[in-house]
Order: sequence, then structure tokens, then C-alpha cells
Amino acid sequence: MNQLTHVAIIMDGNGRWATERGMPRWKGHEAGADAVRRATKAACRHEISHLTLFAFSSENWRRPAKEVHILFSLLRRYLESETAALVEKGIRLSAFGRRDRLPAAVLQSLLFAEERTRGGERLHLRLALDYGARHEFIEAARSLAREAARGIILPDQIDEDLFEKRLSSGVVPPPDLIIRTSGERRLSNFLLWQAAYSELYFCPRLWPDFEERDFDKAVEDYALRQRRFGSTRRAVCLAG
Ligand code: IPE
Ligand code: IPE
Ligand code: MG
Repeated sequence: MNQLTHVAIIMDGNGRWATERGMPRWKGHEAGADAVRRATKAACRHEISHLTLFAFSSENWRRPAKEVHILFSLLRRYLESETAALVEKGIRLSAFGRRDRLPAAVLQSLLFAEERTRGGERLHLRLALDYGARHEFIEAARSLAREAARGIILPDQIDEDLFEKRLSSGVVPPPDLIIRTSGERRLSNFLLWQAAYSELYFCPRLWPDFEERDFDKAVEDYALRQRRFGSTRRAVCLAG
């Protein structure tokens, strides 16, 4: 049986969900917040220790300013209304990605939620916010290059471990399973380092329609996968 400790989700399809109903796109983002609650509940039920949700990409700034503004307002509303429930359920919330471009009010709610939920041990809910893997790699490379230039490290000391420690997405186990909703089959600059050996699952449903049973189906599908990590199945079985 494959171990499942970390699930990551590319929550996609909010805009299409709203458009299909003749509603403005932001209505889809609003409905998406309930799907976040359902996914979190399912993750707890499956006793997964890490759930990472792609909430806003570094490329999403290219959207109309009004949509971006509403997205952040909804995020703030989610953080403010959810923090107490997260504490009660033992869920720790944290975010990774750039913080310097977040609206001040969102940053304030985020810091409050992170602080209040810090002790949660049942599930670590991680939000990728203003996150893009390419930018994260560049930042990591710059920080290592600066240290090498100052003689703090030698270029040859740079290895996978050291590089990984500089990534803003933090040192947590890599996602075993990445789910993307809405039928799109791409990573869109999400966790490109950590996804090296993740199993990918594409769910046709639009994110606001995502149900707990869709999460269950993804987990069932994952359980049947053969993970080899470049080795042979026999060697993996003997090692495990
Ligand atoms: C995902 O839904 C939410 C974010 C990217 C913030 P979209 O807004 O991308 O919805 P579609 O893909 O346009 O339907
Ligand atoms: C990826 O979805 C980002 C999030 C889910 C936050 P997008 O809708 O932005 O991705 P593309 O543009 O279709 O690749
Ligand atoms: Mg999309």
C-alpha cells in the first residue's frame, strides 16, 4: 500500500463554474471556499498530515485588477471566518509564496491565522499564495550565490538538500499526490521541484463542485499506483 502523507491540489475551474451559470467569475471563487472546507475535511478523514492548496499563482496577477481584488477579499474573509474552526479542529494553517505583494489587510489576517493555529497537530493546511515555482528557484539560486560570493559556502557544497532548504515552499515531505480539478492537465508552475515523483490525478469536476467523494476517488486511484522512484518495483518493495 502506498503511504499517503501529503496531498496538493490545484483548485481550478472557478471562473468556468460561474460563467456556466451566467454569473460573474467571482461567484465561482466564492463557491470555491466551500470546496476548500470539504477538501480539508476529507484530508482529516484520511489522516493525511499535509494538505497544500494552490490559491493564487504569481501569474494570476495578470488577471483583471477587479478579479484580483475580489479574490483577495474572499481570501481575507475565509481566513477571518475560519481561524477559530481551524484551531478547534487541530488544523495548522500557513502560507508560502511572496508576501511583499499581498494587500496589507490580507497579510494581517494571514499572520493572525498562522499565529493562532500554530499548535495544530492534526493537519498542516498550506496555502500557496502569490506562489510560482520559477520565481522560488531564482530566489533560492540568488541566496546561495550571494553566500558563495561572500565565501560562506563553496559552490560545490550546493546539493539537493541545501537547495531545497532555500525554497519558500518549505521543507515538508513532497506531495505524494497532486490533484488538479477542471480537466486541465498541467502544473501551471506549481511545486515544480517537489512534484518530481508526485502522482498526478486529474479530476474533471470544476473546483466549486469538488466533493469529499472526489477526494476519496483520487486517494483510491493513488493507492493502486506503482511508485518506483527510478528503481524497480522489486527493489522498492524490499526497501519498504
Ligand atoms: C481557479 O479557478 C482559481 C484561481 C486560479 C485563483 P480559475 O479562476 O482559474 O477558473 P477558470 O480556470 O478560469 O475556470
Ligand atoms: C493555476 O490555475 C493557479 C491556481 C489554481 C491558483 P490557473 O487557472 O491560473 O492556470 P492556467 O492559467 O490555466 O494554467
Ligand atoms: Mg483556471
